[in-house]
Amino acid sequence: MARIFVTRSLPGRALERLADAHETEVWPDRLPPPRPALEERARSAEGLLSLLTDPIDAELIAACQELRAISNYAVGVDNVDLAAATARGIPVGNTPGVLTDSTADLALALMLGIARRIVEGDEFVQAGEWVTWEPGLLLGHDLHGATVGIIGFGRIGQAVARRLDGFGCEILHTSRSGGVELGELLERSDFVTLHCPLTAETRGLIGAEALRRMKPSAYLVNTARGPIVDSEALRGALEQGEIAGAALDVTEPEPLPADHPLLGAPNLVVIPHLGSATHATRERMADMAVDNLLAGLAGERMPYCANPQVYGEAARA
Ligand code: GLV
Ligand code: GLV
Repeated sequence: MARIFVTRSLPGRALERLADAHETEVWPDRLPPPRPALEERARSAEGLLSLLTDPIDAELIAACQELRAISNYAVGVDNVDLAAATARGIPVGNTPGVLTDSTADLALALMLGIARRIVEGDEFVQAGEWVTWEPGLLLGHDLHGATVGIIGFGRIGQAVARRLDGFGCEILHTSRSGGVELGELLERSDFVTLHCPLTAETRGLIGAEALRRMKPSAYLVNTARGPIVDSEALRGALEQGEIAGAALDVTEPEPLPADHPLLGAPNLVVIPHLGSATHATRERMADMAVDNLLAGLAGERMPYCANPQVYGEAARA
């Protein structure tokens, strides 16, 4: 039996399998463990099941001398210092694949939602302002037939492209391995949707300059990671009408405080990081995270490992 710290309760029954096999402590609160609590629990843990809200940085990893396996309940691993984990030979699990389609669905929902003014329409009706059908009421823009620029063409970006094919969209994409130039994508797209991981190269990728290159009629959709977009630059672009609108599932900072200046910007829809938030997907993610941790603690290869270098394999492309 190994000592395991799980930083939040998870949907479904996967954690029961963990608790059956190991001495498992689950952080009971709705909010993440504050740093001192995380440090204190992690210090004696051999296995850590973390969420994207937990910074598993080099300092924390160094303080956890017993730690043998980290399993992150997310496909993104930007909250974990992979280099520090790798240097210690600690495998880091993640949950790719299972959330691809749910996240792609949500990207489509945000494209349609912002361009067809779903949130504004709901607010209008709820406020009792719907008095008649009007020819010019809440007009938006079509997704069908639009040119959509997909930044990051991995599993999720490609799943978005498959859906947009059904809408008769022209697809442009950029990725590490090809596609069009970013500038061309920004200039030609009616929708720009982000599906790249957060890395040193993508942090701040969509700043003032990129936003200026987008069409004034174009929409920005972010279901990837908040810091890929410069929040201040986005607020400026929305206020100046440099782009038509933005729909964000992820923000910088995250969560966005209720008094954050971005929230006052026009033509903006923000939802609270719901890309993978369906019952089925969140339960599958929990199963994968538990499978990864069980394998890691048993000294077996994690089924989904974000730093396969610990097994002497090349880093993923
Ligand atoms: C969610 O954002 C994830 O990376 O799984
Ligand atoms: C995530 O699953 C991606 O590679 O797009």
